[in-house]
Amino acid sequence: MSEKKLVFSGVQPTGNLHLGNYFGALRNFVSLQRKIKCIYCVVDLHAITVFQKPNELRENVLETVASFLATGLNPDKSIIFNQSSVSGHAELAWILNCVSRIGWLNRMTQFKDKAGSDKEKASVGLYIYPNLMAADILLYKATHVPVGADQKQHLELSRDIAQKFNNDYNCEDFFPLPEPLIQKNISRVMSLRDGTKKMSKSEESDFSRINLKDSADDINKKIKKAKSDSEPIPDNIKSLEKKPEALNLINIYSEVSKINLDKAINEMSGKEYSFLKTKLAEALINEIVPVGKEIKKLLENKPHLEQILEKGSEKANIIAEENLKNIREKVGLI
Ligand code: AMP
Ligand code: TRP
Repeated sequence: MSEKKLVFSGVQPTGNLHLGNYFGALRNFVSLQRKIKCIYCVVDLHAITVFQKPNELRENVLETVASFLATGLNPDKSIIFNQSSVSGHAELAWILNCVSRIGWLNRMTQFKDKAGSDKEKASVGLYIYPNLMAADILLYKATHVPVGADQKQHLELSRDIAQKFNNDYNCEDFFPLPEPLIQKNISRVMSLRDGTKKMSKSEESDFSRINLKDSADDINKKIKKAKSDSEPIPDNIKSLEKKPEALNLINIYSEVSKINLDKAINEMSGKEYSFLKTKLAEALINEIVPVGKEIKKLLENKPHLEQILEKGSEKANIIAEENLKNIREKVGLI
């Protein structure tokens, strides 16, 4: 990748990170860090679009930083910081609120899912959340954004906003149009209880997800209880696709074992799900338990985590202020 490319991504500090975050985002963050300049942000302003208890929010910000480090992000290579410490995010979000269109936001499926049946009661912040996400990315003029498949629509909106800003203010190419980097093999890790729903922090049952801090015992129990199928494992993707829970387990197995899906199906076809589950639990324990241990160890030294955020914020702020100066000028703000 050339020097002009810049990666930006954000993770909400809303508690336990899980296997979906790990495969959909964090593992990708780490491999990108080896090739290109990366900025990784703990997006606390996004988190408060749904009420967060202040003490829990503070804890969760540090835990997210610990999770970044435990999966292999290096603060000497990547910029790691929290969103609210760089005020440019909020300022640019306001400017982009005035560029983005109500009709565009009305199409956002995540808002519809999160707001539920009573949309009148959702916060205004939740509604304009995608504009803040566009601001996060465009504040640094990031070109590439590693995310899970659930964020694709928001990324498309960010591109529309960038394009409209460039057109409105007559500055072609001012904002690059950010490209999503979505994992091909496993862009969406599904719930262990319902293969049609994504694995998420907000699903009530903890048995629906593998958390990064789960013990070997937790992982064993959760995989054993995971929904599967009564027939033996099929030998082709077409048949598997009709069984979303089974497909999800094989997908996770292929990802954690770093083999492609065909190979995983070959290995498992004709076998009982108990066989797959034993192998899967073993592989997940090897991969996830050391990460969880490291998160817990890092959380014992909070001043160290706070220091990482502080240094990251300083670096992020320098880039943000430089870009904001030009943005204000384009818009005509004195
Ligand atoms: P969030 O926790 O919602 O801030 O998500 C952080 C990152 O993890 C984003 O890039 C999401 O797209 C990704 N992610 C969250 N849940 C999943 C999932 N079940 N499968 C794949 N990626 C996910
Ligand atoms: N909306 C993302 C999520 O819920 C988090 C996020 C906020 C983000 N700002 C971002 C991701 C900028 C990528 C780039 O997962």
